[in-house]
Amino acid sequence: MNKKGFIFDLDGVIVDTAKYHFLAWKKLANSLDIDFTEEENEQLKGVSRIRSLEKILSWGNKTISEDKFTELMAKKNDDYLSHISNMDDNEILPDVPRVLDFLIEHRQPISLGSASKNARTILERVHLKEHFDTIVDGNDVSKAKPDPEVFLIAAKLLEIEPAQCIVFEDSVAGVEAANVANMISIGIGSEDVLGHATYVFKDFTEISNEFLESLIEN
Ligand code: G6P
Ligand code: MG
Repeated sequence: MNKKGFIFDLDGVIVDTAKYHFLAWKKLANSLDIDFTEEENEQLKGVSRIRSLEKILSWGNKTISEDKFTELMAKKNDDYLSHISNMDDNEILPDVPRVLDFLIEHRQPISLGSASKNARTILERVHLKEHFDTIVDGNDVSKAKPDPEVFLIAAKLLEIEPAQCIVFEDSVAGVEAANVANMISIGIGSEDVLGHATYVFKDFTEISNEFLESLIEN
């Protein structure tokens, strides 16, 4: 059987944490008198914590000291952690377990490819850590998506050529990173936002086992 590398983003793909990132960033931005809309949030999906705060500050035309910057990053993360502290398996997005189980059954290498430094904690909390052969997260990379670094490291660890890898992503930056890495990108979300992906599905319920099979075989 063919082997492909299947790489999953975490936030907004495996678990519905995108809403918690949004709430935490909104609270922080508003505390600085900066407006924060859903459209702006879309641009932060997949983007590292540091880069996200830089963007919010630039949207609000604010400059702050390095100490304040560090303080705000910690504040955002504390707030985010309080949201995810009660997470359990119920917050796994629909049909993600079916897709992971199908790939495991078909002996396909699977990696996480997330910008989040909280990725391992979250995977443990929702009991999915064992489903992954490798985990590459925000602690392992120096360049944030749309740089392809996170996915290229994952491919290397899985020992699969980038062109033989398939990335599931909900963010504009993540789809771009997968495309730059020369991987097949599967957007999870709306066609309007993720039109640059190779394929787009609303969620995993739209991804059939036949489609997964065709990805493995072609
Ligand atoms: C993911 C999310 C982003 C988040 C980033 C860093 O890519 O989509 O919204 O900013 O991870 O997450 P962290 O948990 O390290 O703050
Ligand atoms: Mg995401």
